[in-house]
Amino acid sequence: MFQTLTERPLPTIYTTDARFEADGRPDKLLLSTGLYCDAEGRCPVPEFIKEAEARVLASEQTKAYLLWGGDGAFNAALEAFVLGAEHPARVSGKTRTLQTPGSTAALRLVAELMARHAPGKACWVSQPGWGNHTQICLDVGVPVKTYPYLRADGLAVDLDAVVGALEGANAGDAVVFQAANHLPTGVDPSAEQWAVLADLCARRGLVPVLDAAFLGFGAPFEQEFAGLRAFFDVVQGGGFVTTSFGKAFGLYRERVGALTIVGPCAQRAQALWTHALHAVRTIYSSPPSHGAAVARTVLADPDLRAGLESRTAQIRARLGLMRRLIAERAQAAGLGARFARIQHERGLFTKTGMDEGQVAALHDRFAIHMNSRAVLNVSALPQASVERFIDAMAHVVADSEG
Ligand SMILES: Cc1ncc(COP(=O)(O)O)c(C=O)c1O
Repeated sequence: MFQTLTERPLPTIYTTDARFEADGRPDKLLLSTGLYCDAEGRCPVPEFIKEAEARVLASEQTKAYLLWGGDGAFNAALEAFVLGAEHPARVSGKTRTLQTPGSTAALRLVAELMARHAPGKACWVSQPGWGNHTQICLDVGVPVKTYPYLRADGLAVDLDAVVGALEGANAGDAVVFQAANHLPTGVDPSAEQWAVLADLCARRGLVPVLDAAFLGFGAPFEQEFAGLRAFFDVVQGGGFVTTSFGKAFGLYRERVGALTIVGPCAQRAQALWTHALHAVRTIYSSPPSHGAAVARTVLADPDLRAGLESRTAQIRARLGLMRRLIAERAQAAGLGARFARIQHERGLFTKTGMDEGQVAALHDRFAIHMNSRAVLNVSALPQASVERFIDAMAHVVADSEG
């Protein structure tokens, strides 16, 4: 390979960040990242995390390896937090959770299990969606198929289109659903739509993969987990939950996530868990400890947990405010139609509708960095820069569209 490989282009999600790092202009802005930023555009360590970290460091006795499936107390706490302690699947022993290095690794484990034990079965992902769902599957040879997602008016999930596509799936195919704050559309299924999707999976023997990433960014946790929990009231044939604690906990670089296996019965869940452990062994052997210990400490302590709840409430309030400010400024700058849906969407992102040339012009002329899909993380825009961003966008749009 040293003699044969030529350079492979890196995805724009990487090159956008790298180009931002290298940009020497003092007023540069990076607006397409996947993390929550505060009003000043920073991503600080939350206070409740600092406190939990201090407790973890003070009590830590060893740096010995964790078991391959991670910290058992973390796994139990995460499962109870996400599924609810009394969820029938938990109570009847049908769940097994493995701590993973971020939920990316949890998704990779699902793909590994499919590649090894369900050859030929496809994984369905939403279009549009998170590009890495596709890439993770393709990297291990799992075929990817897409289902359409958004209604033409952009305000709701196009249930007929989703169901129409998934009626063509084969029993044993996996279907990834984003549990809340769908990326990049900011539109989630309603309770009624979740029920239809769960029925469909149950009826057709599809394997749901509920990807829970931006927890608490659109509504309090209990509300956001409702769709996912109801799903596993209905689907009895088995499925997965992949959880990221990077985002709500602000623990991104500590790589905190989990794979929850919800089996048709305790024995089958246990069987799948052992196969997942074999995959872990050859990929990363065991997960890192620190971030999971911090998250476990937060979940176990009512004051720290209140800190988590209040941080996500602040996040939601700021996202709502930013969406309003952007809509107002866009209206004043003649871009109102492009942001007509922004206040209906949830989570971090909105699509600006710019083309690649316009994104490049924003970069060259205004030191504003975005990915080629022109997706805006509304929190990454410092409050004081709303006017600058919208006015710059109005310039490049007017220039290129005459
Ligand atoms: C939809 C979605 N799922 C999963 C992930 C993976 O998160 P992590 O591996 O950082 O836990 C991300 C990260 O941005 C995401 O956007």
